[in-house]
Amino acid sequence: MRALGIETSCDETAVAVLEGDGSVRFNLISSQAAAHAPYLGVVPELAARHHLESLPRLLAEADRRVGLAGVELVAVTRGPGLIGSLLVGTCFASAYAWARRLPLVGVDHLEGHLVSPFLNLEGTPAGASTEPALTLVISGGHSSYFLLDAGKSRPLNRTRDDAAGEVFDKVAAALGLGYPGGPVVDRLAERGDPSRFAFTAPRIKDPAGALDFSFSGLKTTVIRTAQEVTALPVADPAHPPQAVLDLLASFQRTVVDWLLAPLDELVARHQPRVVAASGGVAGNRELRARLVAWGGRTGIEVLLPPVALTTDNAAMIARAGQLRAARGEVDDPRCLKAYPRAPWKTAAGPGGKPTFGKL
Ligand code: KG4
Ligand code: ZN
Repeated sequence: MRALGIETSCDETAVAVLEGDGSVRFNLISSQAAAHAPYLGVVPELAARHHLESLPRLLAEADRRVGLAGVELVAVTRGPGLIGSLLVGTCFASAYAWARRLPLVGVDHLEGHLVSPFLNLEGTPAGASTEPALTLVISGGHSSYFLLDAGKSRPLNRTRDDAAGEVFDKVAAALGLGYPGGPVVDRLAERGDPSRFAFTAPRIKDPAGALDFSFSGLKTTVIRTAQEVTALPVADPAHPPQAVLDLLASFQRTVVDWLLAPLDELVARHQPRVVAASGGVAGNRELRARLVAWGGRTGIEVLLPPVALTTDNAAMIARAGQLRAARGEVDDPRCLKAYPRAPWKTAAGPGGKPTFGKL
């Protein structure tokens, strides 16, 4: 079914139109980064207001460029995220679906990230999801490996504290390098020496063998080291001193090392046919290169979404909606509920209960 996707869970307003085969006809993202940049983080009330202003504009643009008359399904992010922002999106999508008598599908934001490695740009159909797939979801809110098998997804580990993207954002903010931090660090790290600083890996008590992550100690150490090598905030964010560039390169190398550390063990345990990554941090160039090299070494196929679809977008929401609708899972536009927190748990070791998907 030709689907309209709407995503407003955080600070990107996004609208997409997908053909029935999952090919992306239209994908527009209106970033609010500039509005939140002075606060070095997302201001929820500002975000909701921006969504309210941007959504009608984006929808009109979609109509002008590809026409919405043929849309057969509306998919919208219902959570987790900022509740005010989610309410704007779900109310808008519900009203639109109701007025046009179209089926509505509420989609979990993470479900969107999980299908994004199977999407293509430039009109190519979405790939069939090859299962079992091991997918690393790394964003501002998540750092977990998931196993996708028989249409179900199961978290295999989680972070005990900060998410990977959150650490990029907090380090960049503390150094005065701007927001969001991931793309800034990615760019600056290129000019630094990643072997200059070494960081000790956290010792996590992990009796269940879940191979969990922990990033907050690294964050504190990097910020403290930055204070030792230069005055903060750095004077010229576009040209920090070489010691800061080296620190950022070492920091990024460490995050990538730690994110990939559980990979071999998880592959041995679950024997996936493909390994994928998604979420904003999956746009990181070092992470992408390292994953591709790992795939070359092991012979296991590595799937990465186009960089434009790693961060929040509505194409992934439309795709997840299509897959749900194909399973007969549609919602009532008169009472679709948004939820700020995940109703499923990511705290699952090998013995943990998989709860994702049961809303
Ligand atoms: O998936 P996303 O757009 O939103 C969430 O669902 O959280 O991810 C945003 C996160 C931010 O923390 C941002 O700093 C990070 O992804 N990010 C990156 C890169 N691009 C975005 N982190 C590292 N390297 C990048 N190139
Ligand atoms: Zn996201």
